[in-house]
Formats: sequence, structure tokens, C-alpha cells
Amino acid sequence: MIANPFLVGKYVSEDYFCDRIEETAFLKKQVDNGRNTAIIAPRRLGKTGLIQHFFAQSDIEKRYHTFFIDIYSTSSLSEFVYLLGKEIYKELKPLRTQWTEKFFGTIKSLRPGFKLDAATGEPVFDIGLGSIEQPQTTIDEIFTYLEAADKPCIVAIDEFQQIAHYAENNVEALLRTKIQQCKQTLFIFSGSRRHMMSQMFNSPSKPFYQSAITTDLKPLDKAVYTDFALQLFKEYEKSISVELIEKVYDEYMGVTWYIQMIMNELFALTEKGHHCGIELYPTALKNVIQTQESSYKDMLSNISAKQKPVLFAIAKEGEAVNMTSMKFLKNNNLGSSSSVQAALKGLLEKDIITRTEKGYRVYDYFFAKWLQWNY
Ligand SMILES: Nc1ncnc2c1ncn2[C@@H]1O[C@H](COP(=O)(O)OP(=O)(O)OP(=O)(O)O)[C@@H](O)[C@H]1O
Ligand SMILES: [Mg+2]
Repeated sequence: MIANPFLVGKYVSEDYFCDRIEETAFLKKQVDNGRNTAIIAPRRLGKTGLIQHFFAQSDIEKRYHTFFIDIYSTSSLSEFVYLLGKEIYKELKPLRTQWTEKFFGTIKSLRPGFKLDAATGEPVFDIGLGSIEQPQTTIDEIFTYLEAADKPCIVAIDEFQQIAHYAENNVEALLRTKIQQCKQTLFIFSGSRRHMMSQMFNSPSKPFYQSAITTDLKPLDKAVYTDFALQLFKEYEKSISVELIEKVYDEYMGVTWYIQMIMNELFALTEKGHHCGIELYPTALKNVIQTQESSYKDMLSNISAKQKPVLFAIAKEGEAVNMTSMKFLKNNNLGSSSSVQAALKGLLEKDIITRTEKGYRVYDYFFAKWLQWNY
């Protein structure tokens, strides 16, 4: 048994994973029918977890080679190719089959990265980003390699909308062509920018138009999550009140990451044989936010002096509506409505805030609380 069953940021097994039965079956159905899928969901709801869970299904593991890259921090095709090459090598290295031995034979442009470890004599793949001189050639070779695999491959590309920001401007069209030519390689695209993702896959003028089945991910069901949490406490000879689990779920609108973070801390605060009651919530929240504090300070240091007061005003309100009304501007000392508009735009682009039905809120619920407490 692992120390704390409320996992954050890693997938261990289905024992610590809540539900997603229908979503997993849906992905399986698409893959079985040779279709690519695009999953669209807000940040931290569980896209990555779902893909990892899907890849861990025994029949998927048996029948496919699976690869996963998160391209959130990439900004060029070279970086994309670099990540993909590294991921494929990492997954295949332990297998040592005829096909895996051909990695550098087929993907010739990655060969400079092939080295023998001085100490162990083991092959290692040590390539710098700079050695990818012709990303288009490398991507051709990678696709040729995947298509020649001994089993079909599934490539999951997380935060896929990022390719629209790449330095080169034909990447969407280029990848679309490559992907379309694949006969035994399937793709799962996921992304959190609803508008961009939806444009990419559903707008007739875009290269990826209708090249994947798009699907939304919804929050986990409240009752199902409550049972999951109750059960995990019980397995470790602890107990927790249903009221508390439901409070946590509601507080974070069912968004998995926040809920798991709090539940992880509540679990840690509860001794074996003891009960976790609602009075522990403020302590858990304080502790969780403390662990994130340095990244919040970082985030704040990247926000301009003009954007800060706007951000603070939104945090103070929780959900800020009519932000450019005279009343709001005056109450929060915000200056002109055009400067507020500009600040909102900047904050949205950085994913610091997000739109709600009526206005705006700080995207990260914990960051919002930290701002409320400190500013
Ligand atoms: N079904 C689940 N059961 C339990 N924990 C889960 C489940 N789905 C996701 N998680 C956990 O919730 C957190 C957020 O999930 P995940 O990272 O998959 O979200 P995401 O949508 O990919 O987020 P991001 O937008 O930050 O990439 C992770 O720590 C993950 O371990
Ligand atoms: Mg993710």
C-alpha cells in the first residue's frame, strides 16, 4: 500500500483512480475503430490522468505501443520533434525487439544522440535540442519508424493547441498531412483551450478539420467521487465525513486536481483509527496553499504593474462581473476602462484568469485564495 492514496500528479494504478469508466470505454472504441480523438477540457480536470489510465488498460498495453508527450512548454517544431523522439526512445529502450533496435537506423537524423554510457556500456540517447537541424526530416523519419512497428502505435499529444503558436507557420498543415498518411498509428490530442481546440478540429478552414472525434471531459460525478474517497479512508483504517468530501467537491466545482490536493492533505492530517471532520478543512487548505506559495510569488512577479490591480480586484470579488462599469472601476481604483480591457487580455493570454458565464475569475482556485489572503 502506498503512503497516501490521494495521488496528485502521477498515475499508479486503477486502485487510486476514480471512475472514468465511460470515458475509457469511449477512447477504446475510437482506437478499436481506427479513429483519432481530441479531448477538450479545462485545466486540471483530469485529461492527462485519463490518457494514462487508458494506456494502462491491459488490452491496450498488450495490443499497442503507447507514447505520451505534453507540448505545453514547446514553441517550435524542433522542440516538438525533440520531445517525441525522446519519448519514443524512452518507451522502447527496455523492449529490445528487432523493431526497437532499428530506432537509430530509421530515424537517422537522431543518430548523433546515440551514445554508449561510459560506465555501463549501455546505449543511451543523449541529444540536445540544437542537434535537430531539420525537424521536417526528423518528423518524416519518426513517422516512417512508427508505421513500421511490430504493433500499432498510439501517440497522445497533450496541450495540442500549442502547435498553433509555433515559430514556423505551416506546422498544423504539415502534421495533418503526416497524420493522415498513417495507417497504423493513432493519435489522441488533448487540450485545455476550448476555443482554440474547437477551432482546430471543427472549423472547415483549418487543416485538422474533422480529422478527430472531439469530446469534452466533465468533472467526476460527485456521488462517485464521494464513495471513492470514503473507501480509500476506510482501507487505511481512517474515516471521513461525507459532508466534508462534498464541501471540498463543491468548493472547487468538481475540478479534480484541487480536490485531490485537499483530500491528500486531509488524509495526511488524520491519524490511523481517527475520524476526519469538517473542522480540519481550514488547516488542510492553509497547508496546501503554503506548499504552493513560492510558485504564486513567481507568477505574481511575471505580472505587469498595470495587470496587478486588475488581478487583485478579480480575486477580491471571486467572480468579477461588469469590470469596466464606472462603479467597478471606481470601487477598485482601476483607472480607465480601456486600460482594464488591456490588462484582462494579457491576464487571459497567460491563463492567470479565465472567463466565466458572467465575467472573470482567477483560473487557479488556490492562487485566488492566496491573493485574497495577502492583497
Ligand atoms: N479519475 C481520477 N481519479 C483520481 N485522481 C485523478 C483522476 N483524474 C485526475 N486525477 C488527478 O488529478 C490531478 C489533475 O489531473 P490531470 O493532471 O490529469 O489534469 P489535466 O486536465 O491534465 O491538467 P492540466 O491542465 O494541468 O494538464 C492529477 O494530480 C491527477 O493525478
Ligand atoms: Mg495535463
